[in-house]
Amino acid sequence: MGKEKSRRYFLKNLGLSGAALASTPAVLTGKKSDSSIPLQKRKSKKSPNETLQLALIGAGGMGRADLKTALQHPNTEVVAVSDLYDGRLKAAKETFGNDIFTTRDYRKIIDRDDVDVVIVATQDHWHKQISVDALKNDKHVYCEKPMVHSIEEGPEIIKAQKKSGKVFVVGSQLLSSLGYEKAKQLLKDGAIGKLNYAEGVWARRSAKGAWNYPIPKDASEETIDWDTYLKNTKYYDFDPERFFRWRKYKDYGTGMNGDLFVHIISGIHFITDSLGPNQIYSTGGIRFWNDGREVPDVLIGTFDYPNVDSHPGFNLSLRCNFVDGTKGSGYYVMRMVGSEGFMEIRPNQVVYGRNKILDGIDPYMDPAKIHEQPEKRKKILGPETIVYAAQKGYKGCHYDHFDYFFDAIRNGKDVVEDAVFGYRAAAPALACHESYYKKKVIQWDPKKMEIKN
Ligand SMILES: NC(=O)c1ccc[n+]([C@@H]2O[C@H](COP(=O)([O-])OP(=O)(O)OC[C@H]3O[C@@H](n4cnc5c(N)ncnc54)[C@H](O)[C@@H]3O)[C@@H](O)[C@H]2O)c1
Repeated sequence: MGKEKSRRYFLKNLGLSGAALASTPAVLTGKKSDSSIPLQKRKSKKSPNETLQLALIGAGGMGRADLKTALQHPNTEVVAVSDLYDGRLKAAKETFGNDIFTTRDYRKIIDRDDVDVVIVATQDHWHKQISVDALKNDKHVYCEKPMVHSIEEGPEIIKAQKKSGKVFVVGSQLLSSLGYEKAKQLLKDGAIGKLNYAEGVWARRSAKGAWNYPIPKDASEETIDWDTYLKNTKYYDFDPERFFRWRKYKDYGTGMNGDLFVHIISGIHFITDSLGPNQIYSTGGIRFWNDGREVPDVLIGTFDYPNVDSHPGFNLSLRCNFVDGTKGSGYYVMRMVGSEGFMEIRPNQVVYGRNKILDGIDPYMDPAKIHEQPEKRKKILGPETIVYAAQKGYKGCHYDHFDYFFDAIRNGKDVVEDAVFGYRAAAPALACHESYYKKKVIQWDPKKMEIKN
């Protein structure tokens, strides 16, 4: 369906016809401002009885959550867990069963024949090596985001995935959600007109939100395999801060950009079918948390997306503030804006709205009518927004992300967020670092996946 046809189809589906289709403020007329998202029905699929045997490498906060989500799916079971801190291995046994195999050495896990799937949820600086080793050992891999710790690491994972023929997925789960799928469809249907701008905002105001997590009392060189932790990076004397509050340090984490921006970049790429931006600039500073951290606690990143077949040129602005007094702690917003409307997108909800001026009474929007007077009589306006909400009982995007992953493994399908997709999202996010520290604009070739300057 052509773009205009699809836009008209979308508007018609909202209950519009005739004149209202031409200009369209009344697009929302008479509609309930709350509707479910019925269009993204999950595909029904065969569920082979064969059990997928899972292993987790990196059993901290996210790894445990990932494994719990994975195990909600039928015919899955966990056989092994690896972590560098004994406290987490003990906790893994308590949560997942005493009979699971636990080890500090991840290689002992990927060497096991009874492991089909490996979840990699370590600090960012270990993602690449463990993923590549696991793929080489014929494991399917669910690798947490960002896929890589540095831009240089991407090609090796892409190569390993291709060579292995195994399913590799990156854990930016938003794009598997009902909300993001709905947004993709709304954009395609022309609901917001021509996309020209998108933004994501994170606002936090707490120690934990700023990555100062509690450090266990028993943390020591006896309970933590410090040497392995540092094996692929610089040497430091034992420092529990660098282990438990790793996001503050460049050697293990990737700043707000790698940690948070990458989620929205992945989501935008999914919604727009984009290969990525061609120009990236980032600025910020340490405004409050002078606690020895190396990465900013306020960061702004701007991304220029070129005009290509799949989307018009648009600008993406991402900002994150860990000392934000505007609201309660922890909110984030992702908004896409077009010439005719906007969408605020969450995993379980899309708030869609249109600019009221589009009801046709503003003559200045049409150069040919610039001298005409606006109509005198006021019009009845439709609701400003429509809320598309997921049906009650929706299990959420983490669940869906594993669902697509397991479906790909079982039925030989592709996943959206494979190594190439993961790299195309991670690299621009990581380029913010490059831009911030070197104070320069980064030119990126999204097709070739290369830095140009
Ligand atoms: N998808 C999401 O929404 C989401 C949310 C939070 C975190 N994450 C990602 O998940 C990853 C983990 O984050 P976290 O908050 O759980 O960190 P965490 O510190 O709680 O856990 C990381 C664990 O990995 C272990 N580890 C490190 N190197 C290892 C190695 N070589 N072998 C075995 N274990 C090793 C550490 O011992 C630690 O327990 C990060 O990459 C993060 O970006 C994703």
